Amino acid sequence: MQSAEIHPDDDMYTGSLEHYEKCGNQFAGFAEQAAGLVGRSTRRVLELPCGYGRVTRQLVKHFDPSRIEVADIMIPAVDYTTRTFGVTGHYVADPVNEFRTIPAGEFDIGLMGSLLTHLSESNARTVLENFLAKLSADGVAVVTTHGVRAHEMLSSGGWFEVAPGDKTALLTAYSMGSYGFANYTPDQPFEKKTVDYIGRSYGVSLIPHAWMVEQADELGYRILKFSPGAWDNHQDVFWLAHR
Ligand SMILES: C[S@@+](CC[C@H](N)C(=O)[O-])C[C@H]1O[C@@H](n2cnc3c(N)ncnc32)[C@H](O)[C@@H]1O
Repeated sequence: MQSAEIHPDDDMYTGSLEHYEKCGNQFAGFAEQAAGLVGRSTRRVLELPCGYGRVTRQLVKHFDPSRIEVADIMIPAVDYTTRTFGVTGHYVADPVNEFRTIPAGEFDIGLMGSLLTHLSESNARTVLENFLAKLSADGVAVVTTHGVRAHEMLSSGGWFEVAPGDKTALLTAYSMGSYGFANYTPDQPFEKKTVDYIGRSYGVSLIPHAWMVEQADELGYRILKFSPGAWDNHQDVFWLAHR
């Protein structure tokens, strides 16, 4: 089957089709693992954020598109993804981290690839709480972070997305067991269209594993599985369910 074209505003495409497809396929694999943990055969799936469908285009090969719902703060991205892949869309509207337009308690699988990775601590906390609230009673969420693996990469100079001063601040916060966050610099080319759309609240986080454990616990969820660096060899992956 001919693949749909990649949208010109899709910041997740950085020049390699192979890499773009690998990331989407890996994440669809994480969703399959979540499905195995849920166990039921008919499943309602929420993908938040969907962007321009890097993951969605692979998800529709694994799950019934009529049971997949996607959401993003970028309205043109939701429009493109729904139109192209035949899934249902939700616009994320103010207050943006609360996802009020999406029904709570309904989704068997919740997929959050690379959102906490870009938020400040208070925004990440609000997002996590409101996203996990969308899960059904026996639902399973997949959530990624810049954590253990990103810390290794940042420490060894193998990460290009942050300015030198921000790198020091992120590493210092991490060494003290704290959540770190830095805004993208104005000359930073990576995810430029996304930053232009969303604004300065969007940057790069570095999140200690213990922070996720603590949030999950406080919010009433348990970590079923943890796989450091499993997504694209730089994002840690958590599978979570109600306690
Ligand atoms: C790094 S991209 C990941 C997109 C997609 N998950 C993927 O892997 O291709 C982050 C996405 O988060 C979206 N976003 C940022 N803040 C958001 C918010 N508060 N609510 C929903 N989406 C948000 C951006 O518009 C962007 O599409």
